[in-house]
Parts: sequence; structure tokens; C-alpha cells
Amino acid sequence: MVTGGFRTRVAMEAALASGACDLIGIGRPAAVLPHLPKEIILNEDVKDGDASVRLKPLVMPGWVKWAPITSLGAGKQSEYYGEQIQRIARGLRPVDSRA
Ligand SMILES: Cc1cc2nc3c(=O)[nH]c(=O)nc-3n(C[C@H](O)[C@H](O)[C@H](O)COP(=O)(O)O)c2cc1C
Repeated sequence: MVTGGFRTRVAMEAALASGACDLIGIGRPAAVLPHLPKEIILNEDVKDGDASVRLKPLVMPGWVKWAPITSLGAGKQSEYYGEQIQRIARGLRPVDSRA
């Protein structure tokens, strides 16, 4: 299984067809678009060219760049997308941050 950076059906199918993996994971896009797999990626009514998702980059506070911990940006991202999952748990819609 591979998770990370998959944003298009074409790329997912190519990875599976190559035998590099048997399962594709979707992280951040699924946190803001939980219906993405069923309604877009696996929906045969959606053409290959449209079966994709692009997210707006998260705007980090300026100090993150200067902090002496290189993984801080990843932590801030997990925090943001984790909050979106919590919104779903509370019955709210996640913020749709598609580009
Ligand atoms: C809310 C959230 C929590 C995550 N928690 C973990 C974790 O506990 N362990 C881990 O190895 N990766 C974790 N990740 C990283 C994801 O597994 C994945 O590698 C990363 O989001 C890149 O995939 P994506 O481009 O589909 O988002 C987390 C990501 C998000 C958004």
C-alpha cells in the first residue's frame, strides 16, 4: 500500500498496473472530500481527465520557516487536516479547500 501525493485516477491506475503497489491510500484529499473515492475516482461516469483533485496549499505562519524543527510544516498540515476530520465527526462539512 502506498499513501502520498496521489491526486489523479490515471496516476493511481498506473501505480496499480505497474505492480508497485496493490492499494492506494489518500490522506489529505480524503479529509476534506470524504466522498472523493466513490464519487470521483471510482465513478465511471467521470472521465479520466476530470477524475482528479487539487488542493490549495496551506498557508503556514511565517515563523514555521525559521523554526529549528524541519518537520513542523508536516505537523501543522496534520493538525489542519485532523481538524477537518473532527468537523466530520461533529456532523459538520469539512472546509472544501480544492484549488
Ligand atoms: C490528519 C493526518 C494524520 C496523519 N497521521 C499519520 C500517522 O499517524 N502516521 C503516519 O505515518 N502518517 C500520517 N499521516 C501522513 C499520511 O499517511 C500521508 O503520508 C500524507 O498525508 C501524504 O499523503 P497525501 O498526499 O494523500 O495526503 C497523516 C496525515 C494526515 C493528513
